[in-house]
Amino acid sequence: MSIVIKSAAEIEAMRVAGRLASEVLDYVTPFVRAGVTTGELDRLCHDYMVNVQKTVPAPLNYAPPGYRPYPRSICTSVNHQVCHGIPGDRVLKNGDILNIDITVIKDGFHGDTSRMFMVGEPAIGARRLCQVTFECMWIGIDQVRPGATIGDIGHAIQRHAEASGYSVVREFCGHGIGRRFHEEPQVLHYGHPGTGERLEPGMIFTIEPMINAGRREVREMADGWTIVTKDHSLSAQWEHTVLVTDSGHEVLTVSAGTPARPELLRAVA
Ligand code: MF3
Ligand code: CO
Ligand code: CO
Repeated sequence: MSIVIKSAAEIEAMRVAGRLASEVLDYVTPFVRAGVTTGELDRLCHDYMVNVQKTVPAPLNYAPPGYRPYPRSICTSVNHQVCHGIPGDRVLKNGDILNIDITVIKDGFHGDTSRMFMVGEPAIGARRLCQVTFECMWIGIDQVRPGATIGDIGHAIQRHAEASGYSVVREFCGHGIGRRFHEEPQVLHYGHPGTGERLEPGMIFTIEPMINAGRREVREMADGWTIVTKDHSLSAQWEHTVLVTDSGHEVLTVSAGTPARPELLRAVA
């Protein structure tokens, strides 16, 4: 199997799927408050996808090799949960940080994006972790242009994370995306410049760094999905789906509520 180069028509379909995924995050934002359960956020997003957007929530019953079918329509990963948190009875409280990860399917194409949310007023360390992780995603996106390599992306992300005193999760990575949820290439969030696949116009993949405040090691919970930090330190993640264009890149997961790229990125990159 190899990296799919998308046609103009496929790229247009991916723009639509990407916008719709981002619009689910816009929709759910006002509901992310102290007192709500992650299960309620899942139900809200599920109903919005299915009834309003007429999209298919890609996580629901998703079962890659070695996994049991994922039981919900979104992922909610709170505090020391790294990714793939299963929504349920957990009540959000003031000071929590959480990632909400949305993947929709529209007309056979996937759009995949996630953001961090802060409940009330988290401690300064938690806020900084969310901000640095956001910068890491954008520094990675900034590397994307024809002729650059996958290693250029990972290296740039790793450098900023580690310079900030944080660590990069190794077990999960960004991924090619299109008609399939997860396709080639694997987009590692660490690595060496000039290594790995060379980027070409028409490639579409996600960049979704998971950054830990403490050590990089993670552990899978007994539910078979939820990933947590081994040392229980906080973890954050942001995700966009990105197209390689002739001149650089285009972020596909954009909507009215998409947080703007950091202004001072040049200073930190
Ligand atoms: N959306 C996740 C990603 O960015 C994958 C979630 S798989 C699920 O790749 F089954 F947990 F939903
Ligand atoms: Co993804
Ligand atoms: Co995702």
